[in-house]
Amino acid sequence: MTDLKLVVKSAEPETDLIKVFVLQPHDKGSLPRFTPGSHIRVRLPAGGDRAYSLITFDTVSTTPENGSDLFRIAVRLEEESTGGSAYMHSLKPGEVITVGLPKNDFPLHEGSAPAVFLAGGIGITPITAMAASLTARSFEFRVHYTGRTRGSLAFLDRLDAMLGSRLKVYYDDEPGNAIDLAAIIGSASPESHIYVCGPRGMIEAVKSMARSNGFADEQVHFELFTNAVSAGKGDTFEVELASTGEVFTVPSGKTIIDVLEDAGHDVLYDCQRGDCGICETTVISGIPDHRDVVLSEDERSSGKVMQICVSRAKSPRLVLDL
Ligand code: FES
Repeated sequence: MTDLKLVVKSAEPETDLIKVFVLQPHDKGSLPRFTPGSHIRVRLPAGGDRAYSLITFDTVSTTPENGSDLFRIAVRLEEESTGGSAYMHSLKPGEVITVGLPKNDFPLHEGSAPAVFLAGGIGITPITAMAASLTARSFEFRVHYTGRTRGSLAFLDRLDAMLGSRLKVYYDDEPGNAIDLAAIIGSASPESHIYVCGPRGMIEAVKSMARSNGFADEQVHFELFTNAVSAGKGDTFEVELASTGEVFTVPSGKTIIDVLEDAGHDVLYDCQRGDCGICETTVISGIPDHRDVVLSEDERSSGKVMQICVSRAKSPRLVLDL
Protein backbone atom coordinates (compact mmCIF):
# COMPACT_ATOMS: atom_id res chain seq x y z
CA MET A 1 0.00 0.00 0.00
CA THR A 2 1.26 3.44 -0.88
CA ASP A 3 1.86 5.78 2.01
CA LEU A 4 1.48 9.55 1.94
CA LYS A 5 3.86 12.14 3.35
CA LEU A 6 1.91 14.95 5.00
CA VAL A 7 2.96 18.20 6.64
CA VAL A 8 1.31 19.34 9.85
CA LYS A 9 -0.30 22.64 8.84
CA SER A 10 -1.74 23.28 12.28
CA ALA A 11 -2.08 21.52 15.63
CA GLU A 12 -4.63 23.25 17.83
CA PRO A 13 -6.18 22.22 21.16
CA GLU A 14 -9.90 21.54 20.88
CA THR A 15 -10.41 20.49 24.53
CA ASP A 16 -8.03 19.84 27.44
CA LEU A 17 -7.18 16.42 26.02
CA ILE A 18 -8.06 16.65 22.32
CA LYS A 19 -5.93 18.30 19.64
CA VAL A 20 -7.04 18.86 16.06
CA PHE A 21 -4.44 18.40 13.32
CA VAL A 22 -4.78 19.84 9.84
CA LEU A 23 -2.54 17.97 7.42
CA GLN A 24 -1.56 18.90 3.89
CA PRO A 25 0.45 17.12 1.20
CA HIS A 26 4.23 17.37 1.58
CA ASP A 27 4.67 17.78 -2.17
CA LYS A 28 1.92 20.42 -2.48
CA GLY A 29 -0.11 18.00 -4.61
CA SER A 30 -3.67 16.98 -3.84
CA LEU A 31 -4.85 14.34 -1.43
CA PRO A 32 -6.96 11.31 -2.28
CA ARG A 33 -10.68 11.81 -1.80
CA PHE A 34 -12.39 9.96 1.01
CA THR A 35 -15.89 8.81 1.83
CA PRO A 36 -17.64 9.70 5.13
CA GLY A 37 -16.55 7.38 7.94
CA SER A 38 -13.01 6.92 6.55
CA HIS A 39 -9.85 6.91 8.60
CA ILE A 40 -6.12 7.13 7.97
CA ARG A 41 -3.43 5.23 9.82
CA VAL A 42 -0.57 7.39 11.06
CA ARG A 43 2.75 5.51 11.08
CA LEU A 44 4.59 5.91 14.37
CA PRO A 45 8.37 6.49 14.33
CA ALA A 46 8.84 3.71 16.89
CA GLY A 47 6.83 1.24 14.77
CA GLY A 48 3.18 0.43 14.52
CA ASP A 49 0.44 2.84 13.60
CA ARG A 50 -2.76 4.39 14.88
CA ALA A 51 -6.08 4.93 13.10
CA TYR A 52 -7.71 8.38 13.14
CA SER A 53 -11.01 9.24 11.47
CA LEU A 54 -11.12 11.97 8.84
CA ILE A 55 -13.20 14.94 9.94
CA THR A 56 -15.15 17.32 7.77
CA PHE A 57 -18.01 19.72 8.28
CA ASP A 58 -18.37 20.28 4.53
CA THR A 59 -22.10 20.35 3.81
CA VAL A 60 -21.70 21.85 0.36
CA SER A 61 -20.62 18.74 -1.47
CA THR A 62 -23.61 16.71 -2.56
CA THR A 63 -21.50 13.66 -3.33
CA PRO A 64 -20.61 11.21 -0.57
CA GLU A 65 -16.94 12.04 -1.09
CA ASN A 66 -15.22 14.82 0.75
CA GLY A 67 -12.08 16.89 0.80
CA SER A 68 -9.01 16.73 -1.38
CA ASP A 69 -6.71 19.50 -0.20
CA LEU A 70 -6.45 18.88 3.53
CA PHE A 71 -6.99 16.10 6.00
CA ARG A 72 -8.30 16.98 9.44
CA ILE A 73 -8.03 14.54 12.37
CA ALA A 74 -8.50 14.81 16.13
CA VAL A 75 -6.42 12.95 18.68
CA ARG A 76 -7.27 12.45 22.34
CA LEU A 77 -4.23 12.27 24.61
CA GLU A 78 -4.51 8.94 26.39
CA GLU A 79 -3.47 8.90 30.03
CA GLU A 80 -1.49 5.72 29.50
CA SER A 81 -0.24 6.46 26.01
CA THR A 82 2.37 4.01 24.77
CA GLY A 83 3.46 6.37 22.06
CA GLY A 84 0.53 6.94 19.70
CA SER A 85 -1.36 9.86 21.17
CA ALA A 86 1.75 11.21 22.96
CA TYR A 87 3.60 11.27 19.61
CA MET A 88 0.70 13.01 17.91
CA HIS A 89 0.38 15.60 20.67
CA SER A 90 4.11 16.37 20.40
CA LEU A 91 3.81 17.29 16.70
CA LYS A 92 4.34 20.92 15.71
CA PRO A 93 3.35 22.75 12.51
CA GLY A 94 5.86 22.05 9.74
CA GLU A 95 6.68 18.51 10.88
CA VAL A 96 6.21 15.70 8.38
CA ILE A 97 4.33 12.50 9.13
CA THR A 98 3.62 9.34 7.16
CA VAL A 99 0.09 8.02 6.80
CA GLY A 100 -1.69 5.26 4.91
CA LEU A 101 -4.31 5.95 2.27
CA PRO A 102 -7.86 6.67 3.51
CA LYS A 103 -9.84 3.53 4.22
CA ASN A 104 -13.49 3.19 5.18
CA ASP A 105 -14.63 0.44 7.57
CA PHE A 106 -17.61 2.49 8.76
CA PRO A 107 -19.43 3.60 5.62
CA LEU A 108 -22.90 5.09 5.31
CA HIS A 109 -25.46 2.64 4.01
CA GLU A 110 -26.77 3.09 0.51
CA GLY A 111 -30.24 4.58 0.32
CA SER A 112 -32.13 7.27 2.17
CA ALA A 113 -33.44 5.50 5.28
CA PRO A 114 -33.30 7.70 8.40
CA ALA A 115 -30.05 7.50 10.35
CA VAL A 116 -29.43 7.59 14.09
CA PHE A 117 -25.86 8.43 15.07
CA LEU A 118 -24.58 7.70 18.57
CA ALA A 119 -21.15 9.08 19.45
CA GLY A 120 -19.23 8.58 22.67
CA GLY A 121 -16.39 11.05 23.29
CA ILE A 122 -13.79 11.10 20.52
CA GLY A 123 -16.12 8.72 18.63
CA ILE A 124 -17.71 11.84 17.18
CA THR A 125 -14.89 12.18 14.62
CA PRO A 126 -16.16 9.88 11.82
CA ILE A 127 -19.71 11.06 12.46
CA THR A 128 -18.83 14.65 11.50
CA ALA A 129 -18.28 13.64 7.88
CA MET A 130 -21.28 11.30 7.84
CA ALA A 131 -23.62 13.97 9.22
CA ALA A 132 -22.20 16.55 6.81
CA SER A 133 -22.87 14.23 3.90
CA LEU A 134 -26.46 13.55 4.96
CA THR A 135 -27.00 17.26 5.55
CA ALA A 136 -25.80 17.98 2.02
CA ARG A 137 -28.28 15.43 0.70
CA SER A 138 -31.15 16.56 2.96
CA PHE A 139 -31.58 13.09 4.47
CA GLU A 140 -33.27 12.60 7.82
CA PHE A 141 -30.98 11.89 10.77
CA ARG A 142 -30.15 12.69 14.40
CA VAL A 143 -26.82 12.84 16.20
CA HIS A 144 -26.68 11.87 19.87
CA TYR A 145 -23.31 12.85 21.36
CA THR A 146 -22.32 11.91 24.88
CA GLY A 147 -19.32 12.45 27.15
CA ARG A 148 -18.32 12.66 30.77
CA THR A 149 -18.45 16.46 30.94
CA ARG A 150 -19.37 19.33 28.60
CA GLY A 151 -15.69 20.32 28.48
CA SER A 152 -14.68 16.88 27.25
CA LEU A 153 -16.74 17.13 24.06
CA ALA A 154 -15.14 18.35 20.85
CA PHE A 155 -16.61 20.48 18.05
CA LEU A 156 -19.79 21.47 19.90
CA ASP A 157 -20.04 24.88 18.24
CA ARG A 158 -19.46 23.55 14.73
CA LEU A 159 -21.82 20.65 15.25
CA ASP A 160 -24.47 22.96 16.62
CA ALA A 161 -24.10 25.28 13.63
CA MET A 162 -24.29 22.38 11.16
CA LEU A 163 -27.01 20.34 12.84
CA GLY A 164 -29.19 22.62 14.94
CA SER A 165 -32.06 20.61 16.43
CA ARG A 166 -30.71 17.40 14.88
CA LEU A 167 -27.97 17.41 17.55
CA LYS A 168 -28.60 16.24 21.11
CA VAL A 169 -25.76 16.41 23.63
CA TYR A 170 -25.51 14.50 26.94
CA TYR A 171 -23.11 14.78 29.88
CA ASP A 172 -22.67 12.11 32.52
CA ASP A 173 -21.84 14.66 35.20
CA GLU A 174 -25.11 16.57 34.91
CA PRO A 175 -27.99 14.99 36.82
CA GLY A 176 -30.78 13.97 34.48
CA ASN A 177 -28.73 14.57 31.36
CA ALA A 178 -27.10 11.16 30.83
CA ILE A 179 -27.80 9.47 27.51
CA ASP A 180 -30.74 7.05 27.52
CA LEU A 181 -29.79 4.57 24.80
CA ALA A 182 -32.89 2.46 25.36
CA ALA A 183 -35.19 5.44 24.79
CA ILE A 184 -33.31 6.58 21.66
CA ILE A 185 -33.26 3.14 20.07
CA GLY A 186 -36.78 2.36 21.22
CA SER A 187 -38.13 5.46 19.49
CA ALA A 188 -36.16 5.09 16.22
CA SER A 189 -38.27 4.22 13.20
CA PRO A 190 -37.93 0.55 12.24
CA GLU A 191 -36.27 1.28 8.89
CA SER A 192 -33.55 3.42 10.51
CA HIS A 193 -29.88 2.62 10.29
CA ILE A 194 -28.07 3.03 13.59
CA TYR A 195 -24.41 4.08 13.73
CA VAL A 196 -22.43 3.95 16.94
CA CYS A 197 -18.84 5.00 17.49
CA GLY A 198 -17.40 4.98 20.98
CA PRO A 199 -16.09 2.67 23.68
CA ARG A 200 -16.80 -1.04 23.80
CA GLY A 201 -19.50 -0.88 26.48
CA MET A 202 -21.51 1.62 24.45
CA ILE A 203 -21.29 -0.45 21.28
CA GLU A 204 -22.27 -3.64 23.09
CA ALA A 205 -25.27 -1.89 24.68
CA VAL A 206 -26.44 -0.41 21.37
CA LYS A 207 -26.10 -3.72 19.51
CA SER A 208 -28.05 -5.55 22.16
CA MET A 209 -30.82 -2.94 22.43
CA ALA A 210 -31.12 -2.68 18.65
CA ARG A 211 -31.51 -6.44 18.39
CA SER A 212 -34.16 -6.53 21.11
CA ASN A 213 -36.04 -3.70 19.35
CA GLY A 214 -36.22 -5.73 16.14
CA PHE A 215 -33.44 -4.07 14.12
CA ALA A 216 -31.57 -6.42 11.79
CA ASP A 217 -27.82 -6.69 12.30
CA GLU A 218 -27.37 -5.06 8.85
CA GLN A 219 -29.03 -1.91 10.21
CA VAL A 220 -26.48 -1.48 12.99
CA HIS A 221 -23.05 -0.13 12.10
CA PHE A 222 -20.28 0.36 14.60
CA GLU A 223 -16.68 1.41 14.99
CA LEU A 224 -14.78 0.86 18.19
CA PHE A 225 -12.66 3.50 19.78
CA THR A 226 -10.05 1.79 21.82
CA ASN A 227 -6.33 2.17 22.01
CA ALA A 228 -3.39 -0.15 21.88
CA VAL A 229 -2.85 0.24 25.60
CA SER A 230 -6.19 -1.17 26.67
CA ALA A 231 -6.15 -3.76 23.88
CA GLY A 232 -2.79 -5.08 25.00
CA LYS A 233 -3.25 -4.79 28.75
CA GLY A 234 -3.62 -7.89 30.87
CA ASP A 235 -1.86 -10.91 32.31
CA THR A 236 0.86 -12.71 30.41
CA PHE A 237 -0.26 -15.92 28.71
CA GLU A 238 0.98 -18.41 26.15
CA VAL A 239 -0.22 -19.10 22.63
CA GLU A 240 0.45 -22.40 20.91
CA LEU A 241 0.11 -22.72 17.14
CA ALA A 242 -1.59 -26.03 16.37
CA SER A 243 0.06 -26.36 12.95
CA THR A 244 3.66 -26.23 14.19
CA GLY A 245 3.48 -26.68 17.95
CA GLU A 246 5.38 -23.41 18.46
CA VAL A 247 4.63 -21.66 21.74
CA PHE A 248 4.85 -17.90 22.25
CA THR A 249 4.50 -15.76 25.33
CA VAL A 250 2.14 -12.80 25.05
CA PRO A 251 3.11 -10.21 27.68
CA SER A 252 0.97 -7.34 28.91
CA GLY A 253 1.25 -4.48 26.43
CA LYS A 254 1.41 -6.76 23.36
CA THR A 255 -1.34 -8.43 21.41
CA ILE A 256 -1.28 -11.96 19.98
CA ILE A 257 -0.83 -10.42 16.54
CA ASP A 258 2.14 -8.31 17.75
CA VAL A 259 3.86 -11.40 19.13
CA LEU A 260 3.23 -13.55 16.05
CA GLU A 261 4.44 -10.81 13.71
CA ASP A 262 7.55 -10.24 15.83
CA ALA A 263 8.27 -13.95 15.33
CA GLY A 264 7.99 -13.56 11.57
CA HIS A 265 4.54 -15.08 11.05
CA ASP A 266 2.17 -13.64 8.47
CA VAL A 267 -1.14 -12.91 10.19
CA LEU A 268 -4.35 -11.79 8.56
CA TYR A 269 -5.79 -8.67 10.16
CA ASP A 270 -7.16 -5.24 9.38
CA CYS A 271 -8.75 -2.90 11.95
CA GLN A 272 -6.63 -3.99 14.97
CA ARG A 273 -9.48 -2.75 17.16
CA GLY A 274 -11.74 -5.79 17.31
CA ASP A 275 -14.53 -4.46 15.10
CA CYS A 276 -13.93 -5.82 11.58
CA GLY A 277 -13.81 -9.58 12.20
CA ILE A 278 -10.90 -10.25 9.80
CA CYS A 279 -8.55 -11.76 12.38
CA GLU A 280 -11.11 -14.24 13.73
CA THR A 281 -9.32 -17.42 14.78
CA THR A 282 -10.51 -20.82 15.94
CA VAL A 283 -9.61 -21.69 19.52
CA ILE A 284 -8.76 -25.37 19.96
CA SER A 285 -8.22 -25.18 23.71
CA GLY A 286 -7.94 -22.62 26.46
CA ILE A 287 -10.31 -19.83 27.50
CA PRO A 288 -10.32 -16.58 25.52
CA ASP A 289 -10.77 -13.19 27.22
CA HIS A 290 -12.91 -11.50 24.56
CA ARG A 291 -12.32 -7.77 23.99
CA ASP A 292 -13.84 -7.34 20.54
CA VAL A 293 -17.26 -6.05 19.50
CA VAL A 294 -17.93 -8.34 16.53
CA LEU A 295 -18.64 -11.73 18.07
CA SER A 296 -22.17 -12.57 19.17
CA GLU A 297 -22.90 -13.57 22.76
CA ASP A 298 -23.27 -17.18 21.62
CA GLU A 299 -19.92 -17.14 19.81
CA ARG A 300 -18.30 -15.61 22.84
CA SER A 301 -19.66 -18.04 25.34
CA SER A 302 -18.80 -20.98 23.07
CA GLY A 303 -15.12 -20.03 23.48
CA LYS A 304 -14.46 -21.58 20.06
CA VAL A 305 -13.43 -18.41 18.20
CA MET A 306 -11.67 -15.15 19.08
CA GLN A 307 -10.32 -11.95 17.54
CA ILE A 308 -6.58 -12.15 18.06
CA CYS A 309 -5.98 -8.42 17.47
CA VAL A 310 -7.44 -7.45 20.85
CA SER A 311 -8.59 -10.49 22.82
CA ARG A 312 -6.43 -12.20 25.38
CA ALA A 313 -6.65 -15.32 27.57
CA LYS A 314 -8.22 -16.25 30.87
CA SER A 315 -6.28 -19.52 30.92
CA PRO A 316 -2.46 -19.84 31.02
CA ARG A 317 -2.36 -21.10 27.40
CA LEU A 318 -4.48 -20.89 24.25
CA VAL A 319 -4.05 -23.39 21.46
CA LEU A 320 -5.07 -21.70 18.22
CA ASP A 321 -5.87 -23.15 14.82
CA LEU A 322 -2.99 -21.29 13.18
S1 FES B 1 -8.27 -7.08 12.84
FE1 FES B 1 -10.32 -6.40 12.89
S2 FES B 1 -11.23 -7.60 14.43
FE2 FES B 1 -9.14 -8.11 14.52
